[in-house]
Formats: sequence, structure tokens, C-alpha cells
Amino acid sequence: MEKNFKRTLVTCALPYANGPVHIGHLAGVYVPADIYVRYLRLRGEDVLYVCGSDEHGVPITIKARQQGCSPQDIVDEYHNIIKDSFEALGIHFDIYGRTSSKVHEENASQFFRKLYDEGKFITRESEQFFDPEANTFLADRYIVGTCPKCGHEGAYGDQCEHCGSTLSPEELINPHSKLSGAIPVKKKTTHWYLPLQDYEQWLREWVLEGHKEWRSNVYGQVKSWLDGGLQPRAVTRDLDWGVPVPVEGADGKVLYVWFDAPIGYISNTMELLPDGWEKWWKSPDTRLIHFIGKDNIVFHCIVFPAMLKAYGDGFILPDNVPANEFLNLEGEKISTSRGWAVWAHEYVQDFPGKEDVLRYVLTANAPETKDNDFSWKEFQTRNNSELVSIFGNFVNRAVVLTNKYFEGRVPAAGELQDADREVLDAIPALRESLEKNIDAFRFREALKDAMQIARIGNKYISDSEPWKIAKTDLARTGTILNVCLQLCADLAIAFEPFTPFACGRLRRMLRMETFSWDQLGKTDILPEGHQLGEAELLFEKIDEAAIQKQLDRLDAIRAAREAEARAELAKQVAPQKEECTFEDFEKMDIRTATVLEAERVPKTDKLLKLTIDTGIDKRVIVSGIAEYYAPEDMVGKQICILANLKPRVIKGIESKGMILMAKQGDGSMRFVTPQEAVVNGAQVG
Ligand code: MF3
Ligand code: ZN
Repeated sequence: MEKNFKRTLVTCALPYANGPVHIGHLAGVYVPADIYVRYLRLRGEDVLYVCGSDEHGVPITIKARQQGCSPQDIVDEYHNIIKDSFEALGIHFDIYGRTSSKVHEENASQFFRKLYDEGKFITRESEQFFDPEANTFLADRYIVGTCPKCGHEGAYGDQCEHCGSTLSPEELINPHSKLSGAIPVKKKTTHWYLPLQDYEQWLREWVLEGHKEWRSNVYGQVKSWLDGGLQPRAVTRDLDWGVPVPVEGADGKVLYVWFDAPIGYISNTMELLPDGWEKWWKSPDTRLIHFIGKDNIVFHCIVFPAMLKAYGDGFILPDNVPANEFLNLEGEKISTSRGWAVWAHEYVQDFPGKEDVLRYVLTANAPETKDNDFSWKEFQTRNNSELVSIFGNFVNRAVVLTNKYFEGRVPAAGELQDADREVLDAIPALRESLEKNIDAFRFREALKDAMQIARIGNKYISDSEPWKIAKTDLARTGTILNVCLQLCADLAIAFEPFTPFACGRLRRMLRMETFSWDQLGKTDILPEGHQLGEAELLFEKIDEAAIQKQLDRLDAIRAAREAEARAELAKQVAPQKEECTFEDFEKMDIRTATVLEAERVPKTDKLLKLTIDTGIDKRVIVSGIAEYYAPEDMVGKQICILANLKPRVIKGIESKGMILMAKQGDGSMRFVTPQEAVVNGAQVG
């Protein structure tokens, strides 16, 4: 830390309480924040760690309508699921509050009211869509219609979830209200706006001049917003779920969710420390760090700071905003609505005792500088060949051998040889690198440094073979194991921010009652004669079956999605063909016929050879319907054929005529059959 801060306030983006959190959230925000907080605490720093649910906004009201319950029911449900899943993963906030709390409602109202009283807002009249039947304004999400880009019928007024296009309600074909089905009309409404442009110069100086050290993705986004010119931002909405706008004549209006949610960081701090919150928010000695995902950058680096600046009263601004990019899942964008995700609460049920593995993999593969991918195969590999084979294996050998040769007491370190010194000397340098990396929010690199300690230890114990030396030189074995055990203690410290559960087990094994970051790299963390505990397994292998189960679940989601896409495609009807005359039509001899025999044409996927009774003759027709009908499905069926089509030789078989098929938009086909049985050879026309 460059400046002389006395304490650090760490906030994590408040997750929307309309769904559980998934690995993308964890990798982007909560795991890195947790590493950071654990690290600072290990160093003895004063830290406050604040999060909570973001319980307002339109999507929550929509979900409530869909499920036939109240928005409060929705947020109650997800607040608890999310809170529990964080706890289960070892992410212990000092407070996990909620924006539907009384404290927050009062605080957010008060915040708005002060800005309002001091004339910091402007009002503007605009035209918004209104539902004349439900007698209410409609958020863009409440207007549905046909997507102009892809034809999907359930597109929203802000986005088509089918093709991903960003839309405005005006663009929808056949727009109608989700509430009543009525056609929305435009109606005038007045809202309060924060004139962001007034803060532009100040923001430029604060971020572009003052925070060149911010991550380039964050700095770049802020710069491009500022270069694009800032506009007034509405801070209120016509909606019945949220913090009511606390001024006369604002009936039916609430604070915009992105106005109230960041104030939630402050409210949650107040709830935890009713008398002590101010030192965390208003002291220049406090360092504020916001952990967020990249879609939140503008709100945390422009809008919320402008709100705090407008409010004044000594509120501090973030010292850094280490926003991450996105994590994909098995090569595809994570999508809550399509179910393409690994959910935190499901993970902890499917992999009990393996919370650290997820934390480790999400950090090793964190989307810090670019979008990254999570795959279950990689998850398995990183567990089996890094955590188990390197870290776990090294610790296990060191502890088991100490138990075997020295009754579990740390043996004396005799005279050190070069190999021993090399190993011990490597640790302080790794510690320094680890510190630098964490201080700069480079958690992937920091994890590599920690892992390097285990790699060094694992190589050292393999190379020095203390189990062989024990036969001839027990004192030398003792020296080697002493070195190994110091490395184990180093690992118990260095990995604590990353894999806290395993480190707890490791410290129990080593009987390390107290530990601190300062010990890392010392050569006498565990003194000679110190009694160790029982050897425990630090990590366990993950087998194919567990991975396959996860892959099968994803395959099922993919298959369901593809079926849905095909059904959608099937609905697309080809346009009418060019006009033809009755004479043109009359040239075609269409008749009923019955299939007598059917077989696949060898070495083809699509063709069936059908022998049919046309009423005139028996003949063979080769038809490309094998994808849709098995031979046995066709035998005995009455069909329609074009009898006078010029014969063709297909795969060496002469085909006389054509089976009439109804072809759908996705290319799938069904044969055409008379409604009731008729004689073969009846003319169709
Ligand atoms: N709920 C928002 C999201 O998930 C984050 C809100 S962060 C806060 O994108 F600052 F507004 F609280
Ligand atoms: Zn679309």
C-alpha cells in the first residue's frame, strides 16, 4: 500500500436476489475479494468486508409474476440461497445485508433527499410506455413482442434473449404489455436525473490523472465513457418495487435500482456498526476497494463516485476497482436464463469437502485480463495433478515420514547442505513476489507463487529421498524432514487466502496453533521437538464419474436448447411460390398409393427404397426420408405420389416417381396421407 492507510474497506458487488450465484460471479468477484481480505487479515491489517443482496429492480418483479408470488418472496428465497452458498465456500463477510432492509430504505431515502434538497438533481419530462389497461408505466422488460432481428416471438423491449440483440420497445413487432396484453401507449412522465456531465472534469482528474495504476480494462472503460461525453442519468423509475421516492408528488415512483444498490454498501456497514460506520466511509485513512465484474464498471467508477461527490460530507472514493472480465463455461457464455451455469449452491452439494478445489481452479483460471473458460476436465486435472499430486503429496510424505522415523516430532536440522539452503532461500523471494502480486490484484500469479513452494518441496523430497537415507544416516533424514516441515508450514500460511479449508487441516496436522504472514519464509516456524498431529488427507482425487455427471447435466441442457431451437426453426414457413396456371398443375399426375415394402438403401443415411402399389402398377421409388422414418414405419402406409415424374437412377436403383412430403422450416419432413383410406391410384387434384 503506497499511501498511509489505516484500514481497508472491501466491498463485493451486491448480487441480484433473483437467482443463485454461479461460477462466473465467484471467479469475477467473490473469490478474488475473499483472497484479498484473508491476505490482509493475515498481515494483521484492519479490514471490513461488506456485501449483501441487491433486492430491487425490474427482473425481480418479473420473476415474481411468473411464479405467482410477491417480489419479497423471491428475494427472501434467493437471499438465503446466496448467503448460504457464500458461507459454504468459506466466503465470510462481516455483514451480508439486503437492500430490502429498513436501514437501507431509510439510508437510501435520506441520501436522495439530501441531494434533492441541495438542488443536485434536475428533472426532465419524457415519454414512457404506459399500459392503459393496467394503468401503469411499463419498464422496457415489461413490453414483449416479436424480435425484428430473428423473429423470436417472446423478445423483451430491452433485449431479445433468443438472438442476444439489444432492442428498444419501439423496434418490437406487435408490442404488447406483459401485464395485460394491451398495446402500450406513450405517456408523459417526470423523473429526477443526476447531471453526470457536471462531474466530467472532476472524474477525469480523479481517475484518468489520479489512478493510472488501475487495471487497463477498468481505466479504458472509464476513459471511453468520459471521452464519449456524459449525459444526465435518471435516478428514479415508475415502478412499484423499490425505495419510494421520498418527495411529494412522486407517487408510483421508486429510486432506480442502480441508484439505491451502491448506497447499500453504506447501509450494510451502518447495520453492522450503527455507531462506528463513519470511520469506514468518511475517513481519509480508509482505503476503499470495490470488487466487481466488468459490466459494473461504469456504475462504480463514474455514477456512484459522482453520487458520493454530490453528497459531499467527507465520503471517500474507491482507491481501486479491480474488475474482472467474464468466465465462460465449456466454451459458451454463462447464461442464467438458459441454465448454462455451474451454481454455487449445487456445487457445494455435489462436491462436499471440495470447496477449496473450486476456489483454486477459479483462481488459477481467473478472467483477470481477458474472458476465460471453465471446463470440468480442467477442473479435474488441476485437482488431481496439482492439488493432490503436488501440494497434498508433498505434505503427506513429510508428515508420514516424520511420524515414522521421529514419532511425529520435528527433528533437528543438522548442518545444511547446498540443496537444503537452495530450497529454504527460495521462499523469501516467492513470498515477496506473492505479496506484490496480491497487492496489485494479480491473484492468478500470486497463486502460482504459492504453488511454487509446493513444487519446490515436492521435488526436494523426491530428490533427497529421506526414506532411503534413513537406513544409513538418520540425522541427515532428520535435517531433510526439518526442511520439508518448514515448507509445509509455509504452505499452511501462503495458501490460507486461496484454500482456507485445506490450510485449516494442514495446520491441525502440524499443530500450528498460531500463525501469521510474518512467519512465511522463516526457517524455524516449527521448532525442533514440536509434536505433530495425525496425518490427514489434504486433497482427494476426483474420479471420472463425478466429472461425467456434470458433463451429462450440461449435455442435457444443450440438447434441450437445441430441440427448442429446432422447434422454433420448424415454425418458419417458406414464402409462396410464383404463380402457375391450372394447365401447369394438371401436368402433374398425383395419386394415392400404398407402401408394400421398404428398406434402407445400403451405404446411405437418408434414402429408403420403397416398393409401392400405385393402383396402376407396382413400382420402386427411392425417397430421402430415412432420417424421419424407419423402413418398418412405412410398410402398409397410404401415401401420395407424383406418379409421372421422369424416372431417375439413384444409387443404381431406378426410381419412378416421388413421395409427397410436407417439409418444415428446420428441414424435417412428414409424408402426406389421405384423411381416410381410399383406393390406390385415386387422383389427387
Ligand atoms: N446487482 C448488480 C449486479 O449483479 C451489482 C450491484 S453492485 C452495487 O450486476 F453496487 F450496486 F451494489
Ligand atoms: Zn432476436
